[in-house]
Parts: sequence; structure tokens; C-alpha cells
Amino acid sequence: MVSRVIPVESFDLVVFGGTGDLARRKILPGLYRRFLAGQVPDDARIFGAARAEMDDAGFRQFVAEAIAEFGGSASRAAEDVARFLNRLHYVAIDAKGDSGWADLAKAMRPGVVRAFYFSVAPALFGDLAERLHRHGIASPESRIVVEKPFGRDLESARALNATLAEHFTEHQIYRIDHYLGKETVQNLMAVRFANILFEPLWNARHVDHVQITVAETVGVGGRGSYYDKSGAMRDMVQNHLMQLLCLIAMEPPYRFDPDAVRDEKLKVIHALEPVGPDDIVRGQYRGAGKGTRGSYCDDAENPESRTESYIALRVNIANWRWKGTPFYLRTGKKLRARASEIAIVFKEVPHSIFGDEEGWRENVLSIRLQPNEGMTLSVMIKEPGPGGMRLTEVPLDMSFAEALGEDGADIPDAYERLIMDVIRGNQTLFMRGDEVEAAWAWTDPIIAGWEARTDKPRGYDPGSSGPEDALMLLHRDGRRWREIRE
Ligand code: BG6
Repeated sequence: MVSRVIPVESFDLVVFGGTGDLARRKILPGLYRRFLAGQVPDDARIFGAARAEMDDAGFRQFVAEAIAEFGGSASRAAEDVARFLNRLHYVAIDAKGDSGWADLAKAMRPGVVRAFYFSVAPALFGDLAERLHRHGIASPESRIVVEKPFGRDLESARALNATLAEHFTEHQIYRIDHYLGKETVQNLMAVRFANILFEPLWNARHVDHVQITVAETVGVGGRGSYYDKSGAMRDMVQNHLMQLLCLIAMEPPYRFDPDAVRDEKLKVIHALEPVGPDDIVRGQYRGAGKGTRGSYCDDAENPESRTESYIALRVNIANWRWKGTPFYLRTGKKLRARASEIAIVFKEVPHSIFGDEEGWRENVLSIRLQPNEGMTLSVMIKEPGPGGMRLTEVPLDMSFAEALGEDGADIPDAYERLIMDVIRGNQTLFMRGDEVEAAWAWTDPIIAGWEARTDKPRGYDPGSSGPEDALMLLHRDGRRWREIRE
């Protein structure tokens, strides 16, 4: 299979926070991989912008090292890297002052796409937006890309939206949720809307429940001060898991068009019911004894922390399609495996002609986000051999890497795809302002609820599947979580 690489127009891309961690690990190596794929035109230019004094040569050296460390399977051939580095420049800039802005203004070319990636603390978004205008750098066609966290509650998200709106229109603002850039997440839409097979069954009549799991093995060490103010609900559920839920639950948009897709997702968020305390389990990883290394409180450097490193929720959607089908969400750090999966668990057949079959299992469509991206549909078949009709469950298994051959083996990183979408001006995989606000409007009362009750998270062993209580969330409904495994 030959992959189709869609050419893009020439562009000037400025990465504010160009020497930061995200730029080093994701943005710049991602751009290099797109360059190798032929999507960075010869005259495109990428500017790193940050406070540190540095020249182009210093920045190129920084990027060369980032590619060496985080380039993945991309070519390290010296001439490839050198050709890419030629497109790179650096501007020392003060986000809160005036230095550097005139240099940046001078460097911009007329008539090409201009994109500004705000890979900086959200407190600087307003300053950057304002200065881009004051210095005549932003044009009506310019785009800005903003990273999460987009606010920490409805009020702050509204304020952020309002600040950006003073300088940019909604169609110029690209709010990144990198989960939307994951290949398998987009495949969710392809599976649903490019096949006749699933859609007739995709509703409360046929789906018993849905499980969304994003399990990580890493802890919060190194970013404890951010995480401790955030917790799994703000860090993962309000954005990534919510987006996954929307893509599973939304109605078919009339077209694969940015606003058509986002309108449908927004309707899902509006239809989410409030979640009460009995439908939430929060957890915190705890090593064997207090003060033991490997405990959340040590990693977060806050011995009294009540922040959750794990959360499981039972979520109901109050609309015609989903009334009565719960969505169980869980995500956590320091769990037994890095595994993200969406499982659509179908209902039992209305009547078994085989009698009470021991081996009977429900059909499950499981979509693996990472690792080993792929899809499995479990079906019941007859166990081979004579001696009556015994049933057994077998997987119809598809690994995207195997099914797509070479193309599948090299699945682009989420950031690569999203940055190219910015250059192309395609907002489909970015969150609209009203979507982010609606997500916070649902999240805020849930958080306020446990804060008012001063609930403490339940302890769980690092390397386990999470707190015991999370099992009960499903057991009491006569269901069970799927195993977390790679
Ligand atoms: C980030 C969160 O948005 O997503 C991190 O802030 C989390 O806490 C990360 O580890 C997970 O992303 P991925 O792509 O590794 O699943």
C-alpha cells in the first residue's frame, strides 16, 4: 500500500517555548518526520522562540539532539538532518516585554501561512496573543495553537477563551488535545461511519456498556507540582477521555467537516448526566509504607495530598441513543501496564437456542489505542470436534500495523498529524471554545463534590490495576472491568 502524502503550502511556523520539553520531545522531532515524508516544502521555515539568548546554530544543535533522542524510527542520515536544520531559525523573545518582537516581525514573509504554536505556560497565552497583534505579526489568516491545560475550571477556561478572542477569531484558534491526533482515535470515526456493520447496533438497544481505559505505568515524578494541582480528573478525564467518549457516543455528523463534527461532540457533552459520589472512585498509588519511595505523595512532594492519580467513573448519557447504557471510564498512573482501550460490550442474544451454554460470552468490539494499535471483535463459534454443540469465543483480530503493511508500521505520532492540520487550516481534530467550556461545566461540580466532602483517595499498589473499590463500581452492576494488559 502506498501512503498518500498530501502536500502543504509553504509556511512560517513559530514555536514559542521552542527550547522547552514538549518542543524537544514531540513538536520538533514530529516536524522532522513530516519533513522526511515530504510535507515540509523547501522554503518553509520553522522558528524557535524563547527567552534564552541563542543563535540559529545553537538552536539547530538543540534540534539535532532532539531528533537523535526522540526521532523514533526516522532516518538519522546526516544529509537528511542537515537539510531539515536549514529550515530552522531562532528568535530570542520576551513574552512579557518588548524585546525580540521587532526581529520576529521582520523575519515573517508575506503571502505564506503563518502559524504560532504556544507551547508555553497558559499564563503567557494572553501576552503572546496581544504582542503578535501589537507588533503587526498576526495576519487575518494566521493561526495559533494552544496546548492544554486549557483552564482548570469553567471560569478560567472562559477567561482564557475571552483573552484569545480579543485578538483572534475562533477559526484561527487550534486547541490541541493530542488524543484526537492519535491514529486509532480517528479510526474510531472511520470504523463507525465508513462501515454499515456497526452503526445499526451502536445504541442502548444492543450495547450493554462501554469501557474506556487509559492506563499508564509512569508516575507523576518530575511534574508533581503541576499534577498535584490537577489530578487525573483535570489532567485526563476532562479532555482526553471526554473526547474519546464523544467520538463513541456522537451522532453521525452530516459531513466530515470541522464544525459538523464538533457540533455533534458538543451535544454529547451537554447530554452527560451529573455524576454522584457513588459513581466515582478516586485512588492514589501508595508504596508499602508511609514515606516509601514509589508513593504518590513522595512524587508530588506533598505529604498531605488528596489529589487522585487514578479515577474511575460511571457516566450516563441522557439521550435517545444511550439512555440506559453506562460508560465506565478509568485512567491512572503507575498501573500494571501501559494500555489504552475502548471496549464496546454488546448485549446477550435475546434467546439462546443452545440452552444454558457454559462458555458463552458477550460480543466485544475492542479498539486498542496504544500500544499495538488495532481492533478485535470477539465472536462466538462452535468448538471444533464431535460430541454436541459447544461454543467458544474467538477473536477477529486486526493489528493496524500488520493490516496496513509498511504504512501501518510507521504510524505517525499524534503531534505530527495535528501540526500539519494546522498548516492546512483543518480544525476538525481541535477543540472548539464552547466544547472546552461545556466539558468544564460537567467536570466542575464533580470536583466540587469531592472537595466539599473532603474525600481522600483510596490507596492502590503501584503496578496493580487500581483501587479495589473500582472493581465494585462494575460488580454492583453485574459487570467487570476488562483486564489491563499490553
Ligand atoms: C497528557 C497528560 O496530556 O497525556 C499526562 O498531561 C499523560 O499526564 C499523557 O501522561 C498521556 O499521553 P499518551 O499519549 O502517552 O497516552
